[in-house]
Amino acid sequence: MKRAARDATDYLEAVDARPVAPSAEAILSLNALRGPLPPGPTNAEAVLRLLHEFGSPATMAKTNGRFFGFVTGDCLPAALAASWLVSAWDQNAAHHVQSPVAAQLEETAIDWVRESFSLPKGTGGAVVTGATMANFSGLAAARHTLLARAGWDVEADGLFGAPSITVVVGGEVHQSVIKALGLLGMGRSRIVRIPVDGQGRMRADALPHLDAMTILCLQAGNVNTGAFDPAAGICPAARTAGAWIHVDGAFGLWAAASPEFRKLTAGFELADSWATDGHKWPNIGYDCGIALVREPAALRAAMSIQAAYLVHTEQRDPSNYGPELSRRARGVELWAGLRSLGREGMAAIVERTCSHARRFAAGLKSAGYEILNDVVINQVLVSFGSPEKTLRTIARLQAEGTCWCGSTVWQGHTAMRISVSSWATTEDDVDRSLSAMLKAAAEA
Ligand SMILES: Cc1ncc(COP(=O)(O)O)c(C=O)c1O
Repeated sequence: MKRAARDATDYLEAVDARPVAPSAEAILSLNALRGPLPPGPTNAEAVLRLLHEFGSPATMAKTNGRFFGFVTGDCLPAALAASWLVSAWDQNAAHHVQSPVAAQLEETAIDWVRESFSLPKGTGGAVVTGATMANFSGLAAARHTLLARAGWDVEADGLFGAPSITVVVGGEVHQSVIKALGLLGMGRSRIVRIPVDGQGRMRADALPHLDAMTILCLQAGNVNTGAFDPAAGICPAARTAGAWIHVDGAFGLWAAASPEFRKLTAGFELADSWATDGHKWPNIGYDCGIALVREPAALRAAMSIQAAYLVHTEQRDPSNYGPELSRRARGVELWAGLRSLGREGMAAIVERTCSHARRFAAGLKSAGYEILNDVVINQVLVSFGSPEKTLRTIARLQAEGTCWCGSTVWQGHTAMRISVSSWATTEDDVDRSLSAMLKAAAEA
């Protein structure tokens, strides 16, 4: 254990000096960890030595403040250290009786997330693996409620022959919502897609008739542009119509934690369910997602599990609110990270990363490159010219190693994505990365 702590600390201390992406050689060396399962045991320290020698160099160095790919948070020191303790505890977070500490801290952490988003008191939820499963959980509660209203018990009878539900999404819905709908038997393609504007925001004027058999999926924070659907203009009428409103706010909902950015999330509090991530903007470390449901009884109805040997008490059992039975006590890391940040710390991460994103956009724009989105939060899309030149620039940047950015195609335009999501990113990281980007573009 002490060796693991030392190796982990050495890794974190050295990570700033190495290229962000692992070298081809390091990836090749992973072959040392292949081979048949040895017939006999290996000493634990030797196993760890193998991991550190061959595994550590083949990681993506995402904890040095200069990883801007996807929407990837770093891991706050308190959350990381808590995860070591959680591993030592080895708690099963299924039931309160199995782990009072896991059950209670998770409940508290869920309530802190609710508070951060200014959602109604009484809202409940689950700590899951990520926003994909948080979308799944919120939509399972939606499916339960709408069908129960129509006199159908979906948990007992499934969807064959059930009354029909209409699912409405924006044209730029995140694919994890689509995946969740597929897992829930509601179909990846059986959806109504609403046209969006140039930032990917659902056009409120294009919404169809909504009713009590409709699930309306809104987005708080588009993965490419960071844009927010106009919830304040959509939600009041959708609620009056009786539709279930689900919000995919994997990272964007955290804007609500900042007095400066809160206005972007106006109206989302009127929804019935919300999906978000701890492992994105709050920097809790992987994996950590949170599902929130205004009426926790709906989530419970969709997720509850009973068996004679499963001892339930009057306490909240996590497994009655999420998709899994046995699982890691990941709510503890969420509790630790949020506790270490406090309200001000979370607001500071949002404000700092958004300011870094604006700095990137300004630097790239003044060098003559086109910024394709309104930089409303922490996401920047930049074109370096032709699609080929943009892709060559990205490849050079990734190979050079100062930082790491990925590509996308935004409404027909090939772009490099910059997502500033790490608590650790400094202005110096931005400036170093900006220089590397400009050099890569000049040489591409
Ligand atoms: C808007 C949005 N929703 C959902 C997801 C899926 O999140 P996860 O990978 O945590 O399941 C993402 C991931 O980037 C996202 O940006």
